[in-house]
This record gives sequence, C-alpha cells and structure tokens, in this order.
Amino acid sequence: MSNGLMEVLGEDLKTSRTSDLSIAEQTRQNRARNIPRPAFNENGKPILTSVWIPSTEQLHEYRTDPFLKSIKLTGRTFPHVVENLVLLYSDKGDIVYDPMMGTGTTLYVGHKLNRDVRGSDLNSDRVRLFEERWRNYVGGEMPSAVPASAEEIPMEDNSVQLLIMSFPWFDSWTFGESKTDASMENRKSFDEFLEQAKKVYVECGRVVKPGGYIANILGNAYHKGVFYPVCMRMPQVMLDAGLELHYQFWNLRNTAEHLKVPFNRSGRDTKVKKADKGHAWDVHEDIMIARVPE
Ligand SMILES: C[S@@+](CC[C@H](N)C(=O)[O-])C[C@H]1O[C@@H](n2cnc3c(N)ncnc32)[C@H](O)[C@@H]1O
Repeated sequence: MSNGLMEVLGEDLKTSRTSDLSIAEQTRQNRARNIPRPAFNENGKPILTSVWIPSTEQLHEYRTDPFLKSIKLTGRTFPHVVENLVLLYSDKGDIVYDPMMGTGTTLYVGHKLNRDVRGSDLNSDRVRLFEERWRNYVGGEMPSAVPASAEEIPMEDNSVQLLIMSFPWFDSWTFGESKTDASMENRKSFDEFLEQAKKVYVECGRVVKPGGYIANILGNAYHKGVFYPVCMRMPQVMLDAGLELHYQFWNLRNTAEHLKVPFNRSGRDTKVKKADKGHAWDVHEDIMIARVPE
C-alpha cells in the first residue's frame, strides 16, 4: 500500500507550504513527488483535483494485484481513486459503504486500508462474483455484501462515515445478468433516471452520519444523437435530497488512457472507443462529493 495520503497532507498542512506557492508551482511539486492528492490552501479548501492521478506505487500495486486482475468486466472503478477517497474522507475503523458495489473494488481497497467495509448491489451475480474472488484471493472473514437496491440500503440510520458509489450513467451499459426493473441503467427517460438518483441520494443521506460524506463517480451520457448532462444535473439532485455540496473532482478521461491502466473504465476500453463510433464525445468524468448536514 502506498504511503498514507493523510500523512503527506498532514505534513503540508503543518508547514503551510501550500499557502506560499502558486497553484502551478504546487502542481509541479506534487508531480515531482508523485503524490496522488489534492492540495489544500490555508483555509483547508482543496485547490487541486488530483485524487484521479495514481502514484507510481499505486499503479504498480494495482496492476499486479491478483484480486483486481481476476476479472475483466467493464465499469469497474479505479482502485487508486477509491484509495484516495477513503484516505481523504475516513479514518481507520470507520464504516465505508458501497451501495452499488459491483464486484467489490471499494470493499477490497477499503479493507486493505483497515476500514470496516460493507456493500450491496441490486445484481446478485455481481455480489456472488465478489464473494468468489474474496475466497480465492483474500480469504479470512468476508465483509458483509448483500443483494439489495440502493433505494433500501440494509444499514442503520447515521451509521456510515463514507459512502462511495458509481451510478450507471444513463447510458446503454448492462451490469449484470440479474438486473431488474429497479436497475438504474434501465430507466426509460432521463427524468426518471434523475428521480431515481434522488431516491438513492435520500437513502444514502439516511445511512451516512451527519458530517459524513457521499462520493459518486459520474460521467455524462450521449446516445442516439442526444446528450444527457448527468454531471451537470446531479448537484441539484443532491441538494433536493437534503445534502450539502462539498466538492467536485474533475478528470479528463484521456489522462487515464495515457497511463495505460488496465482496469480503467474509460478512455481506451469504453467512451473513447464509443466516440470513434459516434456514440459519445464527452471525455470527462466527475467525482461529486456530498456531505450530510450536521
Ligand atoms: C458502475 S457499476 C459499479 C462498479 C463498482 N464500483 C466496481 O468497481 O465493481 C454500477 C453498479 O450499480 C448497480 N446498480 C444499478 N442499479 C442499482 C440499484 N438501483 N441499486 C443497487 N445497485 C444498482 C449495477 O448492478 C452495477 O453493479
């Protein structure tokens, strides 16, 4: 595991280095030191959006990780992004939950960082795949992972410190054999998709503690000649669900392509390829961070 993000952050905060430097200089220094993190100004506000950028250690570790290498399904979340979010928004022992866990990237990475990880997914085949990989490559006590809708998360009120998820983005992907009418990728109209997103956010707000965080990794959709601005509409959905907007980490998908990350969900294997066929041209993605009001 790479050095703790918080340790590095703590060091910078102590010396207030960020306040003395221009953003460009700070960026240059971060790159030189290969540190995957946002920098913060003297008021504690993030000034760089680099949770997306893997360190050399992270690239090596996750490229060669047997658990992560064991499947090649599309739509998996970058493990280094999960790692950076977990380090930024939770402490050891905190409950980290993924209500759309897919094959369990969040649970696996969070477990390695000593978080109390749990998850659920509507598609029971994805949950089974996670369990199978856990037995084969991790062993020991398995985190709780259950088939459930994100509209009914099987957790008590105010119990989770950090919830990480990656919605389907109202595009034409299919995430599992066992998908049902409740699947977010199954919505007939964009308005219906946004309504469901609001229900999911309300439910996330119920299980996350006041002051806790909800991270969602999102992209816009473009199909059949129509652009669906998922990222632009989501902040209002989050506000309507009673949450605070905390931060937005923006990423140009091409960056991931240059890094040749084999598990990437974007660039080469999905959107850029689709763009070649005229399906999508929007090549950025967002991590939107909501906070549960105290
Ligand atoms: C982008 S994938 C998540 C991938 C996951 N982070 C990983 O790394 O494997 C989206 C997931 O949302 C799930 N899903 C879709 N609609 C859902 C719903 N209403 N409730 C719970 N899960 C849902 C899909 O089954 C799919 O596994």
